[in-house]
Amino acid sequence: MGRNVLVIGAGGREHALTWRLAASPSVDRVVTAPGNPGTAECGPNLPVDATDPAAVADLAERESIDLVVVGPEAPLVAGVVDELQRREIPAFGPTAAGAHIEGSKAFAKDVMEASGAPTGGYVATSERDEAYDALDRFGGPYVVKADGLAAGKGVRICASRDEARDAVDDALVRGVFGHAGSRVVVEQFLLGPERSVFGVCDGDDVVLLAPAQDYKRALDGDEGLNTGGMGAYTPVPGFTLDDVDHLRELVFLPVLRELADRGVPYRGLLYAGLVDTIDGPQLLEFNARFGDPETQVILPKLASDLGDLLHASAVGSVGDVEVTWHDDAVVTVVLASGGYPEGYATGIEIAGVDEAAGAPGVTIFHAGTSRGADGQLVTAGGRVLNVTARGSDVAEARVRAYAAADRISWDGRQRRGDIAARV
Ligand code: GLY
Repeated sequence: MGRNVLVIGAGGREHALTWRLAASPSVDRVVTAPGNPGTAECGPNLPVDATDPAAVADLAERESIDLVVVGPEAPLVAGVVDELQRREIPAFGPTAAGAHIEGSKAFAKDVMEASGAPTGGYVATSERDEAYDALDRFGGPYVVKADGLAAGKGVRICASRDEARDAVDDALVRGVFGHAGSRVVVEQFLLGPERSVFGVCDGDDVVLLAPAQDYKRALDGDEGLNTGGMGAYTPVPGFTLDDVDHLRELVFLPVLRELADRGVPYRGLLYAGLVDTIDGPQLLEFNARFGDPETQVILPKLASDLGDLLHASAVGSVGDVEVTWHDDAVVTVVLASGGYPEGYATGIEIAGVDEAAGAPGVTIFHAGTSRGADGQLVTAGGRVLNVTARGSDVAEARVRAYAAADRISWDGRQRRGDIAARV
């Protein structure tokens, strides 16, 4: 008998997880809560308040779930995994204490530094004068971060000292970020391309996943505002699994040891954001969950059983799982609502998804969609669909992804045109 799996979340990442789990030989049934119209094609969607630990655990018990996979950070920070562990239901994801590595930049820097993993200098403080002194000590470009989760708006890179002091005042004096900005982290600027590497952790061991490159800015040429991510591809030349293997020893294992020593054995996905400096890789930040939309290209490349891997993370045995990868390249193009990442309309009818999904090598992951009154597919978020294509190389995957993306239309639809263009 295979496993009964519950995926928590409702975005493109969760559709990719549900889709891959549904195709895993070790999995009999996948339920998604609350899910979206895409996850509904892989198994039932059930309603739940994903940030209510007791509600998630009750649902898991009612549905006789063998493994809960928590997608987004908010349920992790709310303690969903703590409650599941208390009820002895295997869960993929860190406890609230572990998720603090994403929820507090000061905690993350403290763990990085104490672990001995390479990272830049920093000062975490609630005192304006101490923050000002740190700005002068590190010099420009100046990096000022609100300590807590600030909806992606809490990080400022400033060219001038005055601007950096203003960023400190925004957080500590004017309270622009509320409680999230009651402490700031002033950091040494790290120069180089940003990379992210994902590790599936089981408390003391880690399996690294095939790296992907994402595109954070809204417009072509990395112009425009920061977004959750407008596309991704894998493999990345010069940044393959072999290229990142040394990060297991350099970054992941020391950080896992440090967390375990603090009584926080870290299980689930550890997302390490790094900067490739001339002095080698330096840790920039952590997230406590899979990247979105990187997951939408990494999971189609995974050849082995995702259910076994995520279950091994939950029960402490990732070293026993053989993880294998297809040779294929995968590209995903995000189709977004007009205006995203700022204000946008919802409820707009979407055309062409079925035709696009029928093209060779193409899978459409739903992110911000819902069903209208007559069952028609409508927009329901900023990032709406992730048009994903496999190919024998990145160029072929890219052509397929864009051809499929351009069969899908709605009023105001926007996308970048340069995802994976320079590979
Ligand atoms: N794509 C970036 C993130 O998931 O944070």
